[in-house]
Amino acid sequence: MKTSEHYIKLEDKYGAHNYHPLPVVLSKGKGVFVWDVTGKKYYDFLSAYSAVNQGHCHPKIIGELNKQSSVLTLTSRAFHNDTLGEYEKYITEFFGYDKVLPMNTGVEGGETANKLARKWGYIKKGISNNKARIIFAKGNFWGRTLAAISSSDDPTSYEGFGPYMPGYDLIPYDDLEALENELKDPNVAAFMVEPIQGEAGVIVPSEGYLSGVRKLCTKYNVLFIADEVQTGIARTGKMLATDYEDARPDILILGKALSGGVFPVSAVLADDNIMMCIKPGEHGSTYGGNPLANKVAIAALEVVKNEHLAENSERLGKIFRRELEKIDSDMITLVRGKGLLNAIVIKPKNGKEAWDVCLKLRDNGLLAKPTHGDIIRFAPPLVITEDQLMDCIDIIKKTILSF
Ligand SMILES: Cc1ncc(COP(=O)(O)O)c(C=O)c1O
Repeated sequence: MKTSEHYIKLEDKYGAHNYHPLPVVLSKGKGVFVWDVTGKKYYDFLSAYSAVNQGHCHPKIIGELNKQSSVLTLTSRAFHNDTLGEYEKYITEFFGYDKVLPMNTGVEGGETANKLARKWGYIKKGISNNKARIIFAKGNFWGRTLAAISSSDDPTSYEGFGPYMPGYDLIPYDDLEALENELKDPNVAAFMVEPIQGEAGVIVPSEGYLSGVRKLCTKYNVLFIADEVQTGIARTGKMLATDYEDARPDILILGKALSGGVFPVSAVLADDNIMMCIKPGEHGSTYGGNPLANKVAIAALEVVKNEHLAENSERLGKIFRRELEKIDSDMITLVRGKGLLNAIVIKPKNGKEAWDVCLKLRDNGLLAKPTHGDIIRFAPPLVITEDQLMDCIDIIKKTILSF
């Protein structure tokens, strides 16, 4: 048997060093668990950044994948296929929009939403050519393309990669006054925002923020784009995080768990007055809407609905935060989150930081990853049971108290 070091060295030698993974080499996953190459079992408390909401290798999703993979995998959109219309009907009815535009990764979903908003701005709002602006919130994260990093205020994301996309501006998150000031400019086509900022460290805005965004966007004829790539599909305790308030977005971006962690499937949803602004040839992707993705995405959404994962996420999230708040340690300075998207803020103790906590959690059988140095995100698959969650709380408690 090859050791973990063998695989880590292989990646180190032949792969670009654009990640800094926790030293653990996984080779198997099932439900809430993953196993490393030595056979050690762990609770997965990252869920591939919320892509594996339905649990690893969910039998229904893998069943659909296997079935479709031996029939037809890819046609491109040069031709029709017999699964795309079925999927488009399913997902638009599921989320209540007229149309969907299928893509692959989350960042492509964001790009699509931005292009759509600019087109709408020129065609419907009457913005003069090349003058459209899109407003973002500070702390946003929507991927690694040049457009995505152009709207980022995190130097690690953008520094050294200029020049940047024009027409993007930033305002503070959770600040309706700042938003209103920007929206008064008739050149603003859209405001794109995460209902909870995931990569920023699970930043939950004040109650009323999202419905306030909705109202202001309506008032100033600006599109409200919700980036629910991480928060969507039951992660925060509702099917969408925007469902907590009266805050239906004009453009909804989904990704990650839309495939249940099988491969990249993203989607942009909007009504006809927006979606029909894009004409044949103006946007697309070879793999977007491929038969495999269509079948997998239907199965992934059915699992979320039939297994009541939103309800489970909401209920267990409350228990999780309540129990973490009880841990008597000055190392945890804050517990925050919604549903099963949570984070703790770690104050270093005796030179030990969030990274050291994650290493010890790993040793104790639970995998999580620090972000921004002092934050640990906890986002288990939503199929986790209450007993399993209590087991995990014990592991976290034991780990924290050991420092
Ligand atoms: C809110 C949000 N949007 C977009 C993305 C980008 O998704 P992908 O990595 O699939 O391109 C992410 C990834 O973490 C995300 O959290």
